[in-house]
Amino acid sequence: MSQLLIIANTPSPNTLQLRQAVVAGVAATGLDYLELDPSAAHAGHVLHCRGIILGTTENFGYMSGAIKDFFERIYYPCLEQTQGLSVATYVRAGLDGTGAINSMERILGGLRWNPVQEPLLLKGEHQPVFLEYCRELGEAMGEGLKLGIF
Ligand SMILES: Cc1cc2nc3c(=O)[nH]c(=O)nc-3n(C[C@H](O)[C@H](O)[C@H](O)COP(=O)(O)O)c2cc1C
Repeated sequence: MSQLLIIANTPSPNTLQLRQAVVAGVAATGLDYLELDPSAAHAGHVLHCRGIILGTTENFGYMSGAIKDFFERIYYPCLEQTQGLSVATYVRAGLDGTGAINSMERILGGLRWNPVQEPLLLKGEHQPVFLEYCRELGEAMGEGLKLGIF
């Protein structure tokens, strides 16, 4: 099983690039990782990893349905055994992002996972610098897990 999961919905070419940039950052650290669509991720993956990077678009003022479905499927199977799991999040929003951030934070709080940094909010028109931020996020999480900081 992989040490770090990267799970994000990618409804557009831009959002696919964001996830790929996160993966490139993790890969640069040499940490063992697994990139997954939310629909392919299940409790078995989560139970055997050391950290997760979760990415979502903001849709209708909430996290994406794909990420919500992921949480619904893994919540109870993972609740007892994954407390303290390191997690980092990023949100891609056209206008706002707070609804997606707040809704994810509530569920992460319920799971008692450990956010290792503030959510990364990528808001407005797509910009190339978003890819740098995503790469940095992946690199920071990969290094932190490798060094045992997270
Ligand atoms: C059905 C739907 C609902 C959306 N709702 C929101 C929203 O509530 N808040 C927001 O900031 N953006 C919203 N958006 C914009 C998405 O977050 C945006 O399409 C996504 O971040 C991908 O952007 P990009 O591919 O143009 O980079 C919505 C998009 C769709 C398709």
